[in-house]
Amino acid sequence: MTTDNTVTGDTATGDTVTEEAVASLRSTADPRLRELLTGLIRHLHAFARETRLTQAEWERAIGFLTATGQTCTDTRQEFVLLSDVLGLSMLVETINADTVAGATESTVLGPFHMTESPARELGASIDLVGDGEPCVVSGRVLSRDGTPLPGALLDVWQADGHGFYDVQQPGIQPAGNGRGLFTADEEGRFRFRTCVPSPYPIPTDGPVGALLGATGRHPYRPAHIHFIASAEGHAPVTTHIFVAGSDHLDSDAVFAVKESLVQDFTETDDPSLAREFGVPNPFRHARFDLVLTPDRS
Ligand code: BEZ
Ligand code: FE
Repeated sequence: MTTDNTVTGDTATGDTVTEEAVASLRSTADPRLRELLTGLIRHLHAFARETRLTQAEWERAIGFLTATGQTCTDTRQEFVLLSDVLGLSMLVETINADTVAGATESTVLGPFHMTESPARELGASIDLVGDGEPCVVSGRVLSRDGTPLPGALLDVWQADGHGFYDVQQPGIQPAGNGRGLFTADEEGRFRFRTCVPSPYPIPTDGPVGALLGATGRHPYRPAHIHFIASAEGHAPVTTHIFVAGSDHLDSDAVFAVKESLVQDFTETDDPSLAREFGVPNPFRHARFDLVLTPDRS
């Protein structure tokens, strides 16, 4: 039977199916969609040929992808997690990051930026539970030439001291725990109180966890705090700050560590500073600047 998809008039064979599948895209109106699908078909076919994929393996892969989709909910994105553990999220992030020298490097958004962070005053605590190690995070938001950016916005989120985000523990953690939206002052300064984050495992109770188990990989991410920093006239940056010395810095389950993002959370024994910041003494203090790239630079 001849259809619009037929290029040769012959039945597709292992030798011709790739070119036939690619040719079937000839009427695709959107040229970028055609380019992407052509690349996808060519790479998938090359993969199947190179590995001599068996029928049973193909069925298993379809079952795995089906289970991955069935695990997704309004508050869980198992496909993003799959992309993360395969290193694809970080690759796409890196391909698209046009970080100019001197600006803060970006890294993956991750799946837990799913609720709006509550606006908080500078100096406020994002740790609504208060059972972790006290910590102050402070610094400035600067333009690349060192000019402070007053009014810059800082969206912050982190797991608690036990390694869970508020959205993973509804009814256990208060909503908004570990989250805050801060506005930098007239000198671009920001400051907030929190607890020192701990390393945590990405969710392992779904297909992605099974994949990690089957490949002998651990599911841990090194301790970190997420930031999205934005300011007028500048490109926003989505990034993390990693805790220097944390476990798993060299084996992040999602490959998102960049050297420049690792910061000291310095042990600080200074009763008068602790009083000024409103934290118990001693405390840990992370100090760093976030540097944004002006638009059109
Ligand atoms: C996170 O840091 O929140 C995260 C990133 C990728 C996968 C899972 C969690
Ligand atoms: Fe995280």
